[in-house]
Amino acid sequence: MSDQAEKLLRWGLRVPGRLNFNGYLDFERPVCLLPDCGIVNSSIGSFSYAARRTSITAADIGRFCSIGEDCHIGLGQHPTNHLTSSSVLYDANFWSWSGPGRSMIQHADIYRRTSIGNDVWIGTRAMVCGGVKIGDGAIIAAGAVVTKDVAPYTVVGGVPARVIKYRFSKDVIDRLMGIMWFRYDIYAWSNSSAYPIGCQFDHNLLNKIEDAISSGELSFVKSAWSRLKSENGSITIGHKSSDMD
Ligand SMILES: CC(C)(COP(=O)(O)OP(=O)(O)OC[C@H]1O[C@@H](n2cnc3c(N)ncnc32)[C@H](O)[C@@H]1OP(=O)(O)O)[C@@H](O)C(=O)NCCC(=O)NCCS
Repeated sequence: MSDQAEKLLRWGLRVPGRLNFNGYLDFERPVCLLPDCGIVNSSIGSFSYAARRTSITAADIGRFCSIGEDCHIGLGQHPTNHLTSSSVLYDANFWSWSGPGRSMIQHADIYRRTSIGNDVWIGTRAMVCGGVKIGDGAIIAAGAVVTKDVAPYTVVGGVPARVIKYRFSKDVIDRLMGIMWFRYDIYAWSNSSAYPIGCQFDHNLLNKIEDAISSGELSFVKSAWSRLKSENGSITIGHKSSDMD
């Protein structure tokens, strides 16, 4: 393992290969990015990972998300209603060619922020357009192109993605959205509980989680966010909003 990979691992970011990285990555340990992922100006919550060759641009990703291989999250949009759709309109230094160099439209309109909730599973080769909001617990089928917001606990697939089904009945989804279990130290609780999160999911487990929350047995996760930053060719890491290491 390279010195850089070992250092990142100490901060709770597992990167067992090449990482194409630009801008910043805010992450809440533990997070894993498999080889050849590309990250630009994004944030990722704990227990989330992205598999090989996945790119994440201007996106905020919650906890417990599983992102498959070759996914593209936060696709940028070229202008469609100007004389040209070319990026000369917003890239003042167009691919480093010298020229008049003038931004004619806002770059912010090109990369709109994308939001991926908690406990979202994104299948292999799915794409999520910039500006889309995917709700907690949703599943994106392999190969989908998501162009519109996805409601919580909804399974979508196809091009463009449409609803395939819902993960649970409406009353269970309402209860899950009410408790938002991923805010709690559920993983530690599960390890010491007679009802681990991996056991069959039914009303019994849901009742147990609701009871543990109302009795105070389950407390909020103490989150620890760090920031990886790329500046002038060098990469720094530190606690979020503090000095860089
Ligand atoms: C979306 C998914 C989770 C659904 O799985 P499931 O709950 O077992 O659902 P089913 O296989 O019963 O399929 C339900 C319907 O969705 C359709 N469907 C399944 N996968 C689909 C896909 N990728 N795109 C479009 N439609 C899909 C099925 O054809 C079926 O349609 P029908 O009701 O008209 O017959 C699964 O098909 C999938 O895409 N998983 C991702 C796999 C992957 O990428 N793994 C890599 C690891 S991250």
